[in-house]
Amino acid sequence: MGKTSAKSSLIEVSSQPLTFHLHNSQVSYVLGVENEKILAHHYYGKAVEHYSNLRRYPRLMRHFAPSPEEIETRDFSLSTLPQEFPGAGGADYREPGIVVQFPNGSRTVNFTYDSYTITAGKPQLTGLPATFAQEDEAQTLTVKLVENDAHLELDLSYTIFRDLPVITRSSRVKNLTDQPVQIERLVSFSLDSPDNELNLLQLNGRYAQERNVTIEPLNTGIKILDSKRRASGHTQNPFCALVDPHTTEFSGEVFGFALIYSGSHKSVIQMDGYNQVRVQMGINDQNFEWWLEPQQSFQSPEAVLVYSDHGLNAMSQSLHDLFLNNLMKSKYAHQTRPILLNNWEATYFNFDEKKLQEIISSSHELGIEMFVLDDGWFGERDAANSSLGDWVVDRKKLPNGLKPLSDYCHQLDMKFGLWFEPEMISVKSKLYQAHPDWVLEVPGQLRSIDRSQFVLNLGRAEVRAYLLERMSYIIDHAELDYLKWDMNRNLTEVYDAQLSASEQGEVAHRYILGLYALLESLTDKYPEILFESCSGGGGRYDAGMLYYMPQTWTSDNTDAIARLKIQYGTSLVYPVVSMGAHVSAVPNKQTGRMTSLKTRGLVASSGNLGYELNPLDLLENERQEIKLQVKWYQAHRRLIQFGKFYRLQNPFETTRTAWMFVSDDRKEAVAMYFDIFSEASTPLHMLNFVGLEPKQKYSVNGEYTAYGSELMQIGIYPLLQNEGDFASAVFELKAVEE
Ligand code: GLA
Repeated sequence: MGKTSAKSSLIEVSSQPLTFHLHNSQVSYVLGVENEKILAHHYYGKAVEHYSNLRRYPRLMRHFAPSPEEIETRDFSLSTLPQEFPGAGGADYREPGIVVQFPNGSRTVNFTYDSYTITAGKPQLTGLPATFAQEDEAQTLTVKLVENDAHLELDLSYTIFRDLPVITRSSRVKNLTDQPVQIERLVSFSLDSPDNELNLLQLNGRYAQERNVTIEPLNTGIKILDSKRRASGHTQNPFCALVDPHTTEFSGEVFGFALIYSGSHKSVIQMDGYNQVRVQMGINDQNFEWWLEPQQSFQSPEAVLVYSDHGLNAMSQSLHDLFLNNLMKSKYAHQTRPILLNNWEATYFNFDEKKLQEIISSSHELGIEMFVLDDGWFGERDAANSSLGDWVVDRKKLPNGLKPLSDYCHQLDMKFGLWFEPEMISVKSKLYQAHPDWVLEVPGQLRSIDRSQFVLNLGRAEVRAYLLERMSYIIDHAELDYLKWDMNRNLTEVYDAQLSASEQGEVAHRYILGLYALLESLTDKYPEILFESCSGGGGRYDAGMLYYMPQTWTSDNTDAIARLKIQYGTSLVYPVVSMGAHVSAVPNKQTGRMTSLKTRGLVASSGNLGYELNPLDLLENERQEIKLQVKWYQAHRRLIQFGKFYRLQNPFETTRTAWMFVSDDRKEAVAMYFDIFSEASTPLHMLNFVGLEPKQKYSVNGEYTAYGSELMQIGIYPLLQNEGDFASAVFELKAVEE
């Protein structure tokens, strides 16, 4: 992977026919205008130095393939042409990128090329999280299309990053008529490819078992990966990839797609009768309608297109780099994160000031750096059935408020963090008595309740103002260093009685825009606070939330063995430092499984380490072990949180898992190895390292030395003899002089 010189332009434009070649040293993306009208797709893949129009779509006689009337011909049709942004109702019978209903009831919409601009860097997207770039870091091509009779204008935005194989895309439509029009679908991007030999990789799952890696061959027809939960969801992460069938972790082509959006999303992967593949990603259009008044625009979320010809691992590293450098706006993006102890699994709702002080002091003795007070500190919250919305300290549990706890932490040189679930409301709450109309519901219809709670309508400004005021008050008074933003149910009965009947299709997206607006205000107001996002664990682990909050509680499942798959799948897209990973007590609360403290420590130390247990319940030998874990993690924290991450063995394919972290200068590395099943007369398995300097000599755990090439090519036997099930090992590699 090379660098593209800082001076060279990343976007070449050639005329006759007008063609745009976006490229750096790693990736090329080519689009061009066909018949002076239609914006066609030519190429996306490994970088080429020059583009000589080889992929101009062939003129071939086709049947049942209409052509535009003014160029009547039987060898050019939108029904087969690879396009940059397909319209609807015309000759392209594949999935449309946009659906609009005009005042006359028509849903036919087709765009033709109008003009383009190229800008240095990357313009911001108003109201939506998106990647950002300095002027010399990226260039942006915006192609303007117009609808046939200039009813609508469509701006397609393409940003290419100089040093990453990444192109981001988004679309914006503007109403040029003098009447409102209704947008029923607007995808963030549409990408057509002639290549049919592709597998589809997706990250699916469920509560407490998020982001399973699933790969299947593509076939003719339409595959939809989506969430209709008005959250990105536990079940389907807003990410997918097309991979060559021979692609492995370290070789082969991958085209990855990630959507920067936290609401209902939809990816459509269509293979047509000619085996051409169309991929689209964007806001889920189920029940979606957006009214555009004259001169108004609608902006789609941004999507990230990442390319790799070095397998899945290189794709992940590119995404990790992009998210750390060009997406997380927090000042903590590049800072090592504190080791926390969260009291949730330790106490649930059952605590008082004394108990918490004892936990804090005991955590401090273990070397823990931050205490996080989870659910149960507000209103009269003794169980999950009350008080959400009443963001006032529960004086029965904490008569002196939060300040003494915060002071206590600060005196011990620890940080203090607090849990909120701002988007929710309990019926048993003062807020509900005062504002029952703030709830998302359809008046007169049965409501769905989950975890005894309803959802506040964040689309409403007064709801956001209330939450900002309440949260600011607590943050200021308790002098918080950290805030966990939770969200423990998905939206139902999405309706806003303040809006007209025809505006109800906007409510779900307005909710997300409201959430983003509130997060923007809060994170701008409190740049010193480390924010962690959560939704029943990893129910909203997406790039949109990472823009505001640089870490996420990966899963409510803290079982070390279940976490191997969860963290492996998560790492495909999201940086290691963003993955909250806690050591909890055994038997594990989610699975009942017993695992050693060593294995729990190593799994949690593979992410952003924390503890979620009662330190007062620990045996003395466990306390000693945790002290050593904390010290070990502190010594390796920068390497783990910000080193290059390599997946070595795949828990979805074997009973073993391995991964490693390598420093940028390759002088230091740590690898972790886990073996789920102990076998008698165990077969020998190898562990081959990657990412090392071949000619460099390394010491392995201070026990022996070997060259990087040997450690990578030959590998080692990671022997775990008679350690029982769920065994683990760590290998520390340090460069040594000859
Ligand atoms: C969710 C979170 C947990 C915890 C509880 C508190 O389940 O994922 O980490 O905060 O809520 O109610």
